[in-house]
This record gives sequence, structure tokens and C-alpha cells, in this order.
Amino acid sequence: MPIELVRNDITRMRVDAIVNAANSSLLGGGGVDGAIHRAAGPGLMAECRLLGGCPTGEARITGGYRLPCRHVIHTVGPVWRGGSHGEETLLRACYRNSLALARAHKCESIAFPLISAGAYGYPRAQALSVAMDCARDFLLDNDMLIYIVVFDRGSFRASERLYAGIAQYIDDVYASEHAVTRGGRFNLPRPHEPRRAEAAPCKASTPAEPRSAAAQPLCDAECDERDLPVLGAPDVASEDVSLRDALSNMDETFSQMLLRKIDERGMTDTACYKRANIDRKLFSKIRSDAHYRPSKRTALSLAIALKLSLDETRALLAAAGLALSHSIKADIIVEYCILHGIYDIDEVNRTLFDFDQSLLGA
Ligand code: APR
Repeated sequence: MPIELVRNDITRMRVDAIVNAANSSLLGGGGVDGAIHRAAGPGLMAECRLLGGCPTGEARITGGYRLPCRHVIHTVGPVWRGGSHGEETLLRACYRNSLALARAHKCESIAFPLISAGAYGYPRAQALSVAMDCARDFLLDNDMLIYIVVFDRGSFRASERLYAGIAQYIDDVYASEHAVTRGGRFNLPRPHEPRRAEAAPCKASTPAEPRSAAAQPLCDAECDERDLPVLGAPDVASEDVSLRDALSNMDETFSQMLLRKIDERGMTDTACYKRANIDRKLFSKIRSDAHYRPSKRTALSLAIALKLSLDETRALLAAAGLALSHSIKADIIVEYCILHGIYDIDEVNRTLFDFDQSLLGA
């Protein structure tokens, strides 16, 4: 995934360069500045003294010393004064100049803290949006693994309403899918009842036909496979269809459906994989292999990028042998976002991040 949002201490990041949210003197301070200098040791301060400071929005590079990185890039973010004093322009300059320095020093990976989002008071969710935006702009023409490192437990609830809506949806779905009967068993549908449409059919797994991952939580939960109908594609199950006929009438593959959807929307490949936060190389692998089998995270990232409806998303997942599951919190969150027309991958990822779920992208 070209842009990774991670919870960590930036001084522990094993990357080519970490970025320091410094002040214009470059002579250390509190927050991440203090943490980096403490971890790097006195050599870093000695080199910083030679730099003669750094204006807001600009960046300077030094060695990494005792840190597990080659370089430290020091940049000075703006102090937040309400948002109408050019703060965003200066913050963007911090990311742009830091990335340019990293590229000039042939860095293949870089880790940013949320610049200005601490002592300098920049609102966190806005600071994150600027960071993600700048990273994506840079990746339009460059290859680099960019980490945005979040240190504290605080959330990015850009909108309490969205967060509350998702939390409620998770409870509702979990409750209905996992209503526990008096006997403590999950009330799975009896064999004669049709299974709920959204739960992936739990097929009897045979060596040649491993159960789809999505089905496992439900099946592994408390179901006895012999109780459940063996669901298969009707046209394959009936005797008079030879396997050869069935194989010659296969449905569209994931890759074929994806490329068709991109064309239908008049999107370019670049726009698609950027919106999906997917690596260019991975996308070209998908494009060049008609039978490519993506991970669910990749498939969902592309569904969000293409702004697919829930039914279209399910069809795209099914083409890859995957399904949304109401036993997986991340799936429920993505389903909620799709149902509510939230197709900004950063907003979806901020929400997944707030619920401690792995992010979309690949
Ligand atoms: N790793 C990653 N992120 C961290 C760490 C850490 N070890 N420590 C703090 N942070 C996060 C904070 O939680 C915040 O989100 O870094 C972000 C930036 O916070 P600050 O370090 O306060 O930086 P900033 O808001 O840009 O203020 C800069 O503070 O430390 C002084 O000398 C610095 O004067 C300058 C000012």
C-alpha cells in the first residue's frame, strides 16, 4: 500500500527517513522533536547546530545517528491560528519539501508524524487530510512507501455523526447476525430455510473447493456443515451440464469485471489505483492477468475507488471468490460507507483506523 497509516512511535520506524516536526531553531524541543533527539543521541544535535535554523514550511536533512533510519528530515510546521493565515499552504509545503529532499537522497521509504497537530494546534483530522493529500499528489509521479505515524490513541472522528452511525450499524448487524438462542447456540438458519442473502453461502468444503474465507467465521462459529444446504451454482450442480460445458460458461473474472467497470466510468487506470490507494505495480499485475485473485482488502479498495453500489461490490467480490461478511467488523464498516455514499478512501480509512481495523489499499 503506497500510503500506510500506522500507530507507532516514529523513533522505532525502520525506514530510510523519518520526519521531525521541529521548530525554526532546529535545536530540539518537546513532542516528537524531543523524542527524536533523545533516541538519536547527541550527534544529531551537533549536526543541527550547523544548519543555522529552518524557516516554517521548509525542510533540512541530517543523518539518523542511533535511530533505525538513514536520515532525519527536519521541517517546521505552521502554528494554527484559526486557519485563515495560510496555515494549510505552509503545512503542504512541509510535506512537499520533505518528500523532495527524501527523493533527492534516494529514499524509498519515509515516515511522517502529524506535523503541527501537537503543540502547534493544527486540528488532527485536517492535519491528516493534508498529509494524505500531499502523499497522494507526490505518488502520482513518484514511487515511495509513505508512512503517516499516529502516536497517541486519539481518534480522527472528523464527524461524530459518522462515527456514531457506524458504531450503531455495527451493533445492529452484529446483534441480528449473532443473536444467541437460549441454548447459547447461534440461531443459524435450519437447512430448509433460505440462508440470509448477505451471509456468504457456507458450502461443504471439499479438498478441491476450500470454503470462501468470508464463510468461515459463520461456519466455524457454531455450525455443523451437515446441517447446512450444500449450495453450489445450480447450473453446475445439475447432472446434464458437463464440467466442460460449465467451465466453458464461466462468469466474468475479477480482472475482467474491474476493467469493464473502469471503462464504463470513463476512468483512467491511474485515477483508479490512486483513488484505491493501490500500488501501481499491483494494479498492472491485476490488469495483465485475467485470472488474478486479489485479497479482499484490494478488491474493496477498488470497489470504493469505482464508487460501486453494495450489489456491484458484492458482484466484484464474488468474481474473486470473496464475500462481505457480517462477522467481520471491517466489512461492516465498508458496507456502511458504501450504503452512505462515502467513497473517499481516506475517510473510509480514518474510520477503519478509529475502529482499530486494517485499512483499505494495497
Ligand atoms: N512518534 C510519532 N508521533 C509523535 C511522537 C512520536 N514519538 N510524539 C509525538 N507525536 C505526535 C503528536 O501526537 C502530534 O500528533 O506528533 C504530532 C506533532 O506534535 P508535536 O511534536 O507537538 O509537533 P508540532 O505540533 O508540530 O509542534 C512543534 O513542538 O516539540 C516542539 O520543538 C517542537 O516547537 C516545536 C513544536
